[in-house]
Amino acid sequence: MSEENKKRDGFGSKLGIIAAAAGSAIGLGNIYRFPCELGDNGGAAFLLMYLVMVVLLGIPVMLSELVIGRRTQSNAVGAFKILAPKSGWPLVGYMGVLCGIIIFAFYTTVAGWTLEYIFKAVTNSFHGKDLATMQQDFADFHNLGWLNVILQAMFIFLTGYVVFRGVQNGIEKFSKILMPLLLGILVILGIRSATLPGAHEGLAFLFKPDFSKITGEVLIDALGQSFFSLSLGMGVLITYGSYVKKTDNLTSTAFSVIFADTLVAVLAGIVIFPAAFSFGIRPTAGMGLVFNTIPMIFNQMTGGYIFCIIFFALLAIAALTSTISLLEVVVAFLSEELHLNRKKATILTCVLTLIIGSFASLSLMENTPFAIGGKTVFDLMDAISSDILLPIGGLLIVIFVGWKFGKQKFFDEVTNEGTLKSSLTKIFFFIIRYLAPLAIAVVFISGLIKS
Ligand code: TRP
Repeated sequence: MSEENKKRDGFGSKLGIIAAAAGSAIGLGNIYRFPCELGDNGGAAFLLMYLVMVVLLGIPVMLSELVIGRRTQSNAVGAFKILAPKSGWPLVGYMGVLCGIIIFAFYTTVAGWTLEYIFKAVTNSFHGKDLATMQQDFADFHNLGWLNVILQAMFIFLTGYVVFRGVQNGIEKFSKILMPLLLGILVILGIRSATLPGAHEGLAFLFKPDFSKITGEVLIDALGQSFFSLSLGMGVLITYGSYVKKTDNLTSTAFSVIFADTLVAVLAGIVIFPAAFSFGIRPTAGMGLVFNTIPMIFNQMTGGYIFCIIFFALLAIAALTSTISLLEVVVAFLSEELHLNRKKATILTCVLTLIIGSFASLSLMENTPFAIGGKTVFDLMDAISSDILLPIGGLLIVIFVGWKFGKQKFFDEVTNEGTLKSSLTKIFFFIIRYLAPLAIAVVFISGLIKS
C-alpha cells in the first residue's frame, strides 16, 4: 500500500513487529561488540552481569518504549511532545535522534567490513592462512582508510534505500526469513568451535565466573552493552512501537525480542571463545577477536568455503536490519516534526552520517590523526553513545513512564485496554517506577567514579 493511501505506515502482522524489533536488536552488537566487551571485562563475570541487566532492566525499558510509541503513534520527539507538551521531556527524544546518528556513524564502519569479508570469502582468500597472516591482513585492511570509507558509504546508502521504501515493504521483509538462518549457522559454528582442541579453556572463560572481576566499570559496560544490544534508550522502540497495531501484545513482543537477542549473543560467545583459545587469540584482542577467529574456524571445517560466505552475508544483513532502525528514528523525526519528505530526510541523514562516520573509519588507521587522548574517534563515539547516552536515555524513559505517564495509562496500553490479562504488569510497573531508575543511576554513577 502506498503512503498516499494510508495516513501512516505500519507493520503488517504480529510477526512483522517481532521480526523488525528483533532485526534491530540482533546485529553487530551481538556478534561483534558482545564478544569484545566480554573479552575485555574478564569473561564469565561479565556474562553474568549482562544477563542480570537484560532480565532486570531489558523488559521494563523495552515495554516503556513500546508503550510510549504505540500510545502516541508518533516518532521519538513527537511522542514526548504529545504526552508532555510544553515541558523539557521532548529533549529525551532529541537526545535519541542525536544518539541514533552517532551510532549509525560508527556502526557502519564495522558494517562496511562485513562487505569486504563477503568479498574475501567469495574469492577464497582466507584459505590456508595461519593466524599471523590473518591478523596482518586485518591490520593492513584498516590502513586502507579510504577503502573503509567507501565500504561504509555503500552500507549507509544501502540502509537509506531500504528505509526510503518504507516500513512495511522494507523493514519487515528482510528480517522475517534471514534471522532464523543466522541462528542456524551460529549453532553449526558453535558446535565446531566447542569441539576444537583446547576449546574447554574458552568455555571456562565464558561460563566460570570469577566474582572478584566485577567492578564498577564491568557493571557500566554490561549495562551499556545490554541497552546497545537490545536497541534501548534512544527511541528505536518508541518509533517501532508507533507502527504496532492496538491489538498486538506488547509484553509477549518484548519477551520474544529479548529472548532471541540474548540467544544470539550467548551463541556468539560460544562460537568465538573456545575457538579463540584454541587458536591462541587473546580474549582482549578487540576487533580482531571476531574478524580473525571466524575465518579461522571455517578453515577447519568441511564445507567451510560456502559456510563462510553465508555467514558473512547473514552478518551483513543482521547489521542492515539494525542500521535500518537507527536511520528510521532520525527519518521519522525529520519527516513528521520538520516536515521534510521521506526522500529528502533519508538522503540528508545519510550524507551527514557519512561525513561523521568517515572520521570513525579513518581513526582506525595506524598513526591516525583522529584520536583524542589515546582513544580513537571510533572508540569515543562508541563509548559516548553506549555508556553515556543510552543509559541516560533509558533512565529518563523509565522515569517518564513511571512518574509522568502513570500507572493507569501504562496498564491500559500493556493490557490493550483491559482485554489481555497480565499478572506481570504490576511487577513491571513497580520495576519501571522504582527499581529500574535506581539501578540505572547506581550503575551509571559507579561506572563514572571508576573511570
Ligand atoms: N542493537 C543493534 C545491535 O546489537 C544496534 C542498534 C540498532 C542499536 N539500533 C540501536 C543500539 C539503537 C542502540 C540503540 O547490533
